Amino acid sequence: MKKHIQHPIFNLIAKAAQSLNIKTYVIGGFVRDIILERPCKDIDIVAIGSGIELAKEVAKNFGKNTKVTVFKNFGTAMLNYEDYQIEFVGARKESYDRGSRKPIVEDGTLEDDQNRRDFTINALAISLNKNHVGELLDPFNGLNDIENKVLRTPLNPNITYSDDPLRMMRAIRFATQLNFTIDPASLEAITKNKQRIEIVSKERIIDELNKIILSPTPSVGFKLLFDTGLLAIIFPELDNLKGVEIINGKGHKDNFYHTIEVLDNIAKNTDNLWLRWAAIMHDIAKPATKRFEDGHGWTFHGHEDKGARMVPQIFKSLKLPLDHKMKYVQKLVRLHLRPIALVKEIVSDSAVRRLLYEAGEDIDDLMILCNADITSKNPIKVQRYIANFELVNNKLKEVEEKDQLRNWQPPISGELIMETFNLNPCREVGTIKDAIREAILDGHLENNYDAAYEFMLQKGKELELKVKS
Ligand code: CTP
Repeated sequence: MKKHIQHPIFNLIAKAAQSLNIKTYVIGGFVRDIILERPCKDIDIVAIGSGIELAKEVAKNFGKNTKVTVFKNFGTAMLNYEDYQIEFVGARKESYDRGSRKPIVEDGTLEDDQNRRDFTINALAISLNKNHVGELLDPFNGLNDIENKVLRTPLNPNITYSDDPLRMMRAIRFATQLNFTIDPASLEAITKNKQRIEIVSKERIIDELNKIILSPTPSVGFKLLFDTGLLAIIFPELDNLKGVEIINGKGHKDNFYHTIEVLDNIAKNTDNLWLRWAAIMHDIAKPATKRFEDGHGWTFHGHEDKGARMVPQIFKSLKLPLDHKMKYVQKLVRLHLRPIALVKEIVSDSAVRRLLYEAGEDIDDLMILCNADITSKNPIKVQRYIANFELVNNKLKEVEEKDQLRNWQPPISGELIMETFNLNPCREVGTIKDAIREAILDGHLENNYDAAYEFMLQKGKELELKVKS
């Protein structure tokens, strides 16, 4: 391990520890990531003694301007060096109370400290002590688990998960991020302890869920969340998409598996968390709108509008942001069927213009979502969808070049209407403004000021408005 701790930081920490006569180790995620060859800038240092004192001593070695941030209540201290963030803590022994994630903490040995950690792969430590620098301390065979790509808890999993139920989410998150499997005993314990997730704050849960969503193949995590029963507790609306109903021998697709396949598809084309969220939410209203119509089979009429209406309440309950990010997801859910629907009509310029106007600057993201939504297993269908998709894409480009409708505003403003007819804000202003916009989008009116001005005068006349003299 010596070669992995060549950075001068470790030498400086080792020196400080020696001068205080405190045994010191690098521990946790940093060691795991060294072995996995993943970049990591967070270094956790555990001291068999006071982590705060050690941090202060290290700061002296790092140079005058090094600032130590002390969290007295937690017994930890932090300092930055280059772009590394180093956290110091005294080795501890923890015992938990059933109602809370906050443990009762006592000083402990290195072994106590390793015992209290979540997974064997996160309990590895590297010694910084004289004559032992670089030695790996791996009491639970974490190295082996890394090689075999397995997540296992150091102690009985029922204890590890019940002590801190956030670890159930962490297990699934690591499995998804690292492409590891969860040891069967652990998986069983998660299923058994799933209800304990209720003592974890929603902010922490969503933090882990977002990390799952941002992984290369997010479906891995969602399947695990579903299979363990956690999904039904933390995100019941998504859980509710699962299942196939059959009437008169006709079934519909399983919308849960479809959704997570769309999510995997979109993950290949974007790292935008909110576009990935749009994929998760695009069919969320299918259970609520599902009907079996004789002669037709299964329909989900209006699921895009209903889905868009469900977005704010779901975002609120998951403690996701309620700002423009939510509006963006809502817009994509509402419009997700539109590009493909364009093919079914004879693709008129006006339908394309209307979509460009409604999607605005999010049109490219909408097309990425639409493309990811193609999950049919029938190659002929897939080929047809892709051809249609290309057709719409080309049409969009063509109309866009001509009309420049991205971020478009009609050429006549509400102010100008009020000014022209000497009006205060009133219904007529809206009526005229809407009529101008619609006429341009429908292609009945040229998209320029003079034509729109004439049209405004004519509409005013129809409404018996007088032009200001
Ligand atoms: N840890 C734990 N239980 C938790 C959170 C953390 O046992 N609920 C321990 C693990 O040993 C972990 C270390 O604390 O390695 C540091 O935690 P953290 O920085 O949150 O996670 P990392 O494992 O470093 O991974 P990531 O940075 O990807 O979150």
